[in-house]
Amino acid sequence: MRKVLIPTKLDAKAADILRDRGYEVVLDATTPFEECVKNNSDAEVLIVRSEKVTPEIIDAMPKLRLVVRAGAGYNTIDIKYARTKSIDVMNTPGANSNGVAEEVVAMMLAGYRHVVPADISTRRGDWEKSKFMGREVTGKTIGIIGLGHIGQLVVKRLGGFEATFLGYDPFLPPEVAEKIGVKLCTVDEIFAQADIVTLHIPENDETRGMVNRRLLDMMKPGAMLINCARSGIVNEADIRAVKAEKPLVFCNDVYVKDAAGEKSVADIADVMLPHLGANTKEANFNAAVKAAEQTCDYFEKGITRAVVNKF
Ligand code: 3PG
Repeated sequence: MRKVLIPTKLDAKAADILRDRGYEVVLDATTPFEECVKNNSDAEVLIVRSEKVTPEIIDAMPKLRLVVRAGAGYNTIDIKYARTKSIDVMNTPGANSNGVAEEVVAMMLAGYRHVVPADISTRRGDWEKSKFMGREVTGKTIGIIGLGHIGQLVVKRLGGFEATFLGYDPFLPPEVAEKIGVKLCTVDEIFAQADIVTLHIPENDETRGMVNRRLLDMMKPGAMLINCARSGIVNEADIRAVKAEKPLVFCNDVYVKDAAGEKSVADIADVMLPHLGANTKEANFNAAVKAAEQTCDYFEKGITRAVVNKF
């Protein structure tokens, strides 16, 4: 019987599906990750969320054949090292996109209407209406960097706001952009024209540090930048420098280290959340179903479409 280890907070539906299909499943979100791996070193499949799958973890599981990232971003997995051991790594594209897209809408509204500081102030007994003069999303120009599953859903969910959508995505066919109501532009054009820019690209060698002083200088005073993607895409020091010179609203969900502790962006983020994008019951359920079904398809039908390390 093939053993699957799920050492993470993933909806139990994944384990149910896999057990029904004859897999042995260990679902354990309480034992520390490394210890859990050690206790289940005979597993052939590892299903994770953002746990770090390092060479040490891979070496600790000699029978490992498949790592499934129940989610989109796989920067936490050493995919090259996995390849050297003939281990396939796959993600579950689209499974949690709606959770992230809705968080982006929440960020926009919270940032424009000062929801968090106004709540704190009102609880304190203050009545700071003039301090919390807000802005409206309706009719704004919204720039989306990256029009994959999440970027496209952001556009769809914002459908009622009568916004103008500018988008950058080198892989999106122009006819698809036209169909979803997005004008394709360069990154420079988006930063110069948008009232709100939201990032939906992976962090990699091409995108690391992409949102830098040059782009931030182009933004209109009062413009909003939303990062629910990965922290390395933005240059924090540059945001700090530009914010000292003109008003910018920065809403942030992602960190160098996604864990408890002080956050280096605390002084520049107007809204900051602990990587909650995909943290909805619905997204967790969808990711669990996809991870389990993709595992079954991989072993039973040889379907490797979602494998991300076919070098
Ligand atoms: C993703 O890459 O799927 C999202 O950033 C969510 O990550 P999480 O599963 O660690 O919440």
